[in-house]
Amino acid sequence: MSKVAIVTGGTRGIGREISQSLARAGYRVAANFAHNAEAAEAFNRETGIAVYQWDVCHFEACAENVARITQDLGPVEVLVNNAGITRDATMHKMSLDDWQAVIDTNLTSCFNMARCVIESMRARGFGRIVNIGSINGQAGQYGQVNYAAAKSGIHGFTKALAQEGAAKGITVNAVAPGYVDTDMVRSVPPAVLEKIIARIPAGRLGRAADIARTVLFLVADDADFITGATLSVNGGQHMY
Ligand code: CAA
Repeated sequence: MSKVAIVTGGTRGIGREISQSLARAGYRVAANFAHNAEAAEAFNRETGIAVYQWDVCHFEACAENVARITQDLGPVEVLVNNAGITRDATMHKMSLDDWQAVIDTNLTSCFNMARCVIESMRARGFGRIVNIGSINGQAGQYGQVNYAAAKSGIHGFTKALAQEGAAKGITVNAVAPGYVDTDMVRSVPPAVLEKIIARIPAGRLGRAADIARTVLFLVADDADFITGATLSVNGGQHMY
């Protein structure tokens, strides 16, 4: 029986590519989305991948939908915490709402989702959790104290949960994308983006497929000795 995977924010951008790559590899995929129903329906029509609408900021909604997906597709063995937003502004212009929305969507969501699948993974002795971090969580970024804090938090979350999961067959890893050609990155002011691309040794933006292939590698059954790792996929923009 093929494994069931949930991809949060799984119908657009990097998440869309992850959902499709997992589906092509034989996983039964549930792609979550929060707001853009039109894009999600189009994604479902084009790919045949099941889509589920809920806001990953809300614990109860996560619990209800994990239960629904378990009933529809089977127990969840793979979780990809990909959902994320930006609300870029320099600190002196950032509102509390800009801060809270990014922390809730990008970081608290990881707790909400992992909490809802972890007991079943522990009981089954198998689980794969991949959290999508960011180069900007590793290196910081002007105008992103909220996003950098949330993504940096993901890296600590990953290492702590990896220690708890290791003896239970559950691996927990992070992927830290650099600047990938998605709507999110295209919304960076063009002059700023130009300067950023000039600093990428590979000389180009990343592709969503660059991230998806990394996720696929980490969730494989025989990747069971890789846990607590962060794989940077950034064209050489930041190494450490
Ligand atoms: N480093 C140093 N200085 C910078 C800078 C940077 N990266 N970005 C902007 N500045 C400077 C500008 O040059 C400008 O300086 P002067 O006043 O001396 O001219 C000053 O900051 C103000 O810049 P703006 O006119 O752009 O001010 P703003 O308030 O309108 O916007 C901003 C500021 C929101 C930070 C805007 O510049 C911006 O959106 N920058 C992009 C931030 C970014 O890279 N976000 C990443 C989004 S993609 C993502 O997050 C995905 C991922 O994981 C990689």
